[in-house]
Amino acid sequence: MAKDVIIACDFAQEAETMAFLEQFQEEKPFVKIGMELFYACGPEIVKKIKKRGHPIFLDLKLHDIPNTVKKTMAVLSALDVDICNLHAAGTSAMMKAALEGLTRSDGTRPLLIAVTQLTSTDQEALEQELLINEPIDQVVMHYALNAKNAGLDGVVCSPLEAAKVHAACGTDFLTVTPGVRFADSAKDDQKRIMTPAKAREAGSDYIVVGRPITQASDPVAAYRRCAAEFLGK
Ligand code: C5P
Repeated sequence: MAKDVIIACDFAQEAETMAFLEQFQEEKPFVKIGMELFYACGPEIVKKIKKRGHPIFLDLKLHDIPNTVKKTMAVLSALDVDICNLHAAGTSAMMKAALEGLTRSDGTRPLLIAVTQLTSTDQEALEQELLINEPIDQVVMHYALNAKNAGLDGVVCSPLEAAKVHAACGTDFLTVTPGVRFADSAKDDQKRIMTPAKAREAGSDYIVVGRPITQASDPVAAYRRCAAEFLGK
């Protein structure tokens, strides 16, 4: 199975994003485009980054009625991205509709992964606001299984949950894990973190790394260090 480092390009503008990517002349890293950049620049930013040769994880976390998600996924699939995502809370019907929308006429489609519970949601919010009374880690595993049973390819989760997800959903079910930091770098606002090497040992399939690379004085060197640690090269 392909393992890779995905750089979270959490920039607000096209110029900043392209200037960052221009530093990469030899390799074309996997890039995550989030809501901020997509809503600021529109689909053109996806096309521009794709044109530079980067695989793309379009992190838009769709959550709507099945028909709307299906039709929106067809639009995103036409952008030729490599990974899309949605909220598993949208139900199995929504997840299955998303897969239908993503599948192109030739049968190919981007990988589709689910967000289970946002890491910003804690047990208290789950119980008091969402009226879900199960322990949050059980909710996360249950939503991961729902995603697996709907035919999705994996979930976004903490590297600390990767082994558990693989045990519940199979080793082929992808774990895409943010919350990665070098042993000697700042934690920023991340709380539950792992180094790239530990994430590899934990079974993460893709690590999503933002600030340790984007804010580094030498981003290319930081990316290479991250890839070397994660891929064990
Ligand atoms: O800069 P940093 O490495 O913390 O960036 C991590 C990226 O992963 C950000 O784009 C963040 O929004 C995303 N993410 C996360 N935790 C989640 C889901 C997504 O950090 N649970």
